[in-house]
Amino acid sequence: MKFFLDTADIAEIREAQETGLLDGITTNPSHVAKSGRNFIELVREICEIVPGPVSAEVTAEGKDEMLRQGRFLADLAPNVVVKVPLTQEGLKAVKVFTEEGIKTNVTLCFSPVQALLAAKVGATYISPFVGRLDDIAIEGMQGIRDIRAIYDNYGFGTQILTASTRSAMHIQDAAIAGSDVATMPMALFKKLVNNPLTDIGLKLFDTDWNKIPEANRTY
Ligand code: E4P
Repeated sequence: MKFFLDTADIAEIREAQETGLLDGITTNPSHVAKSGRNFIELVREICEIVPGPVSAEVTAEGKDEMLRQGRFLADLAPNVVVKVPLTQEGLKAVKVFTEEGIKTNVTLCFSPVQALLAAKVGATYISPFVGRLDDIAIEGMQGIRDIRAIYDNYGFGTQILTASTRSAMHIQDAAIAGSDVATMPMALFKKLVNNPLTDIGLKLFDTDWNKIPEANRTY
């Protein structure tokens, strides 16, 4: 499963890039607002740091303006993925982007049937939001399992990008469900490696190692 970072924070992106685990970036208007940066300059800079796919979201509501914005964004760098909301107008725009060879990430997906529509218009990625569903007591991860089944039933190539992740369990369950990608905030990305048993085990090995006479452990 690929790991994307869900952020527009350049320092976080550089830090994650150094781990060797980062496959791409997803941004959204909220992340861009938080950065305080010019949107276009920011997208260019992220695309220079990360060679993998970088999602940049259109903000128009109508198809024609979505197409203008998306074409402009796609021209910024070869790794830009145009992020489009899952609305009727958005799906019409995705259909055109697909025909033009522009990669798309259909966002704000909250049901498997919505994901089916995105696949039918050729979306590159579908972003089902698991955390926001969990927040209202609907199991978000069941949606990932159902979308996997639907896409496999019909051989759709659209990649499932599990979004709105909040915990290591979301990442683990997404991988078990066969999600192609999970995007996550930096705080969660950093937590994935942690396990107290690893820390305890390491301390024990270190203690025992130091019991060995130095001549027997120097190499
Ligand atoms: C995905 O592309 C979205 O930007 C993101 O995952 C939303 O997450 P949130 O529900 O934590 O805002």
